[in-house]
Amino acid sequence: MSSPSPGTPVPVPPLPGLPAAFVFGAATAAYQIEGAHDEDGRGPSIWDTYCREPGRIEGAATGDVACDHYHRYPEDIALLRELGVDSYRFSVAWPRVQPTGAGPANGRGLDFYDRLTDELLAAGISPAATLYHWDLPQALEDRGGWRLRETAERFAEYTALVAARLGDRIPRWITLNEPFCSAFLGYATGRHAPGAQEGRGALAAAHHLLLGHGLAVRALRAAGVRQVGITLNPDRLLPADDTPADAAAVRRAETLHNETWFDPLFAGRYPRGEAETWGPQADGSWRREGDLELIGAPLDFLGINYYRPITVTEAPYRDPDPVTRTATDIRVAECARDDVRHTTMGWPVDPRTFTDLLTDLTARYPSLPPLLITENGSAETDTVTPDGRVHDSDRVGYLRDHLAAVADAVRAGVDVRGYYVWSLLDNFEWARGYGQRFGIVRVDYATQRRIPKDSYHWYRDLIAAHRRYH
Ligand code: NOJ
Repeated sequence: MSSPSPGTPVPVPPLPGLPAAFVFGAATAAYQIEGAHDEDGRGPSIWDTYCREPGRIEGAATGDVACDHYHRYPEDIALLRELGVDSYRFSVAWPRVQPTGAGPANGRGLDFYDRLTDELLAAGISPAATLYHWDLPQALEDRGGWRLRETAERFAEYTALVAARLGDRIPRWITLNEPFCSAFLGYATGRHAPGAQEGRGALAAAHHLLLGHGLAVRALRAAGVRQVGITLNPDRLLPADDTPADAAAVRRAETLHNETWFDPLFAGRYPRGEAETWGPQADGSWRREGDLELIGAPLDFLGINYYRPITVTEAPYRDPDPVTRTATDIRVAECARDDVRHTTMGWPVDPRTFTDLLTDLTARYPSLPPLLITENGSAETDTVTPDGRVHDSDRVGYLRDHLAAVADAVRAGVDVRGYYVWSLLDNFEWARGYGQRFGIVRVDYATQRRIPKDSYHWYRDLIAAHRRYH
């Protein structure tokens, strides 16, 4: 029995809908927490470059130091052990392993993940490694990045190096995290590294990311690892109004956000709505025979990251030229909502849409593997009160309601096997810098002090309650 913590005096009840073997976890990503950007032979990534470009990141922040996890990982693993999670999801930084994105492994870079893995196992926590959480070696971007097929091949080589060193101890592997963001925020809106604003380049990148995934699956299978999957961020898209124009906007947004990924991975086809959504840019000249078979290789699980629904309406093209417009210019605009609370990211809180998304995906793609929620969480205005604690009741409510939404999906027949909270620590929130705090543990960046928030204690008590219940 765990005793109730100060700040959460009411015992946390279990969530009965979740299966006994449900995996509870916490997630992070390399560039967002590690720091140590130039240690032990690490090469620059596209995020190191992008963060140094004026105006790209709020507060001109970088990941140079971040949470200094590279040096403080034992303390962070102690927090995970105390939390009682079954599994910890982290990412491996490609530029630590291959500083220029090619050639033999940098042993000192892999040593870090070796130490991390052993420390996790010693703490009784099962490691789950993401191979690509957006930090492409800059040298590969200089050659063309994900616009090129060659980058997919390099990714498979890097995967083989990591699996050869860690495949004996890490049971769960995720090839890519949210390739939607890599392709469309990286190469179309320019809101993520490398900051390009293209049409065809972004569509080619989407294909090469999927191909890189397929080639990496082959490399992981060859290394004999146990569980292989990919993490996507499908969106729940809602029409602003009940009009044919908004329904068509939802369809185009479905192509961009969902079908581009789910159709090739789980239905053996290219996105159904691509001609209507993109017009002549989507000629597919970057595709080759056999690619779909590689991309569609069977997976052991599908990782889902979910935060909020998106309400859309029809909008005019920003760029009238069908060849030069970016791949995200599909005459769709996002609408604000005033009927629900918003997090500090400006994201609406609407947990029922999580259940709807999961049940709908399962119905649309009958061959989906079991699901793992690989991220879910909220950024809130956290303050340290005079008692030295962070009473983040909004985050507790968010997490409780979204886990309940997962339990509802399970009751409706969706096969969800686990849930990783985003994030263990406050960290570098990409273009939003350090102002957005997603952690269940607060990080004081000036001192690197960690303060577990009420949400940390709540999650610990929920996990303990689940174990007692089953
Ligand atoms: C998705 C990304 O995988 C993660 O890196 C990011 O911090 C969270 N969403 C929150 O935006």
